Amino acid sequence: MNFAGSFPGTRMRRNRYDGWNRRLVAENALSAADLIWPIFLCKGEGQRIPVASMPGVVRVSADLAAEHVAEAAALGIPAVALFPYTPIGERDEDGTEALDPDNVLCRAARALKAAHPDLGLIGDVALDTFTTHGHDGVVRDGYVDNEESVKILCRQAVLMAQAGVDVVAPSDMMDGRIGTIRAALDAEGLIHTRIMSYAAKYASGLYAPFRDAVGSEALRPDSKRLGDKKTYQMDPANSDEALREVAMDIAEGADMVMVKPGLPYLDIVRRVRDAFGMPTFAYQVSGEYSMIMAAVERGWLDHDRAMMETLMAFKRAGCHGVLTYFAVSAAKLLKAG
Ligand code: PBG
Repeated sequence: MNFAGSFPGTRMRRNRYDGWNRRLVAENALSAADLIWPIFLCKGEGQRIPVASMPGVVRVSADLAAEHVAEAAALGIPAVALFPYTPIGERDEDGTEALDPDNVLCRAARALKAAHPDLGLIGDVALDTFTTHGHDGVVRDGYVDNEESVKILCRQAVLMAQAGVDVVAPSDMMDGRIGTIRAALDAEGLIHTRIMSYAAKYASGLYAPFRDAVGSEALRPDSKRLGDKKTYQMDPANSDEALREVAMDIAEGADMVMVKPGLPYLDIVRRVRDAFGMPTFAYQVSGEYSMIMAAVERGWLDHDRAMMETLMAFKRAGCHGVLTYFAVSAAKLLKAG
């Protein structure tokens, strides 16, 4: 059967002839409701500090957080994702600040919930923003120890949920952490707290600007301290393995699953969506953002077109939503029509 028709009876360009027709036959649409905005939080008061490697991105102190997200909330962005910045001198080997109920993430969560009760708060569960070595868990005998790390992550997740975080998002890639975190939340009566699992997270070179944003200088490519995260994050060569990761996290109680990075892994997004039908998200990570912004700064790409085209790609691949540093710019553009 030939559903495509054939030329000249069929001319594919007819349905592209004018704007109303192109709108009419559009298969996918992007809306503000598809966007999650990651924000960086720093200590102190009245702080609003640009992140050098991410043009247009700033770190704000907890007292400015509510004001910082006001526009996002007004534009209909459903949720923001919170990431703490910790200067290298204030970190320690085990990332103990993660368990301080007054750390910057918890303080911002309380302030944001009070000011914007209808805005979803997603909290990053991982130790990399608090550890001197920058790993997502604790290092024992030169290895990121799975069970020791999971124990700490559970307490971190409970603390942020108690501070007002609606969705805990483990980005650490330890084995078994979803089930253990679910049990820890439930034991505290936090049965409504959702888990968005970074289920298929790859050991990517595209996280470099983020590591700058959160103060993990130790992780910079020129640093000898960390090496890499290849013993826990996934090998970019693999895709069947991503499905096993996602399947296990769903079995352990994940409410939403994420693939990360974004654009280079849209094949994984599509497979995950088709295989599980779960609420599926992708993270357009810092390196993806900065690549576009660097080209925009040189006049090589048009900001709005590059932004909207990449975001639409996530929808086409089957995402329910995208974590993206473009969230507010895109929502503004969508509103303007
Ligand atoms: C680690 C974490 C990373 C990002 C989010 N959470 C970096 C890493 O795994 O080293 C990267 C996000 C981005 O690049 O925008 N918990």
